Amino acid sequence: MKLTTRLIMAFILIMMLPIVVAIVFAVLMRTFSGVRPLSIVLPVVAIVVAIGFFVAAWAYFGIFRPIGELQKATREIRDGNLDYEINIDDLGRDEVGELCAEFNDMRLRLKESQEAKINADRENREMISNISHDLKTPITAIKGYVEGIMDGVASSPEKLDRYVRTIYNKANDMDRLIDELTFYSKIDTNRVPYNFAKINVKDYFGDCIEEVSLDLEAQNIHIVYRNSVDSYVEIIADPEQMKRVINNIISNSIKYMDKSTKIIWFTITDIGDFIQVDIRDNGRGVDARDLAKIFERFYRTDASRNSSAGGSGIGLSIVKKIIEDHGGQIWATGAVGEGLEMHFVIRKHREVIDE
Ligand SMILES: Nc1ncnc2c1ncn2[C@@H]1O[C@H](COP(=O)(O)OP(=O)(O)OP(=O)(O)O)[C@@H](O)[C@H]1O
Ligand SMILES: [Mg+2]
Repeated sequence: MKLTTRLIMAFILIMMLPIVVAIVFAVLMRTFSGVRPLSIVLPVVAIVVAIGFFVAAWAYFGIFRPIGELQKATREIRDGNLDYEINIDDLGRDEVGELCAEFNDMRLRLKESQEAKINADRENREMISNISHDLKTPITAIKGYVEGIMDGVASSPEKLDRYVRTIYNKANDMDRLIDELTFYSKIDTNRVPYNFAKINVKDYFGDCIEEVSLDLEAQNIHIVYRNSVDSYVEIIADPEQMKRVINNIISNSIKYMDKSTKIIWFTITDIGDFIQVDIRDNGRGVDARDLAKIFERFYRTDASRNSSAGGSGIGLSIVKKIIEDHGGQIWATGAVGEGLEMHFVIRKHREVIDE
């Protein structure tokens, strides 16, 4: 039996009781004192019916209407419409009103998780298409050179040597890409175990710069290193992963350098609870609109993915993940033509002293 039918029956029964009592009372009065029964029954019936209507309206607005709304919203969600919202403004602030508000909350969360799933699906599709593209390019080249050799196009030993070298380099590109992808998928699913250790900022970054500067010198790139942090300042970090961060950022500066005088500024500053590392280059820079996107996986400012400079767009997404896993933050600034500046902060280590 429906809730509405049950309540209507309960109302009728409750209303019948005083009416029956009034009729019995009127019959007794007429029998014993000769008073006209209608003068008693009619007012009682009128009062009972009025109260009945009032209670029915109260129950309708307080219970049935919100339940009806809830039912309608449930059907909408079942049919996939996650935009349907129950208007709780004209519902009461009672338990049923609260139930409707919580229902709206649940709908919002469902909608968010559905949107997140749609985004993840889209990203996965893009990722597969990007990986296919990035693997296909060197494979096509390798195939072309091997066919050239088979057809006898590489007629001289020098030509053959050039062909073989190109095949070797392309195979290396693929190898590097697969390594990066494997590392990215591991770090993205938190399968890279970090070996956190106390690191002295001055010593650690000093050694890093010494290491990279040899490579930079060979490529005619000047590095300006400034570290104004006190010599005792330490951070908690994984030295190997932190090196990966620096290498990825600096290798970008090298790759996207378009000036004849090539400079990289590497600055470390103490900013209270954190140390801030700024790595600036005077390369081609990135458009202000794209600055936040360069940390997305597979994002490259060259959307066609055809330029010779440039990898797969994984480098900075790895950098971001490592910095965030260290509890830090990373962002980029700069302008097209002037260069790019990477900034990241890492919390300083403080010895807890027992008092
Ligand atoms: N120093 C920089 N100067 C100019 N553009 C940059 C610089 N660093 C990054 N970018 C832009 O950001 C994009 C993403 O960088 P990211 O390091 O993630 O990928 P990538 O260098 O293309 O490939 P990968 O690092 O995986 O080999 C680059 O493709 C480039 O367009
Ligand atoms: Mg890179």
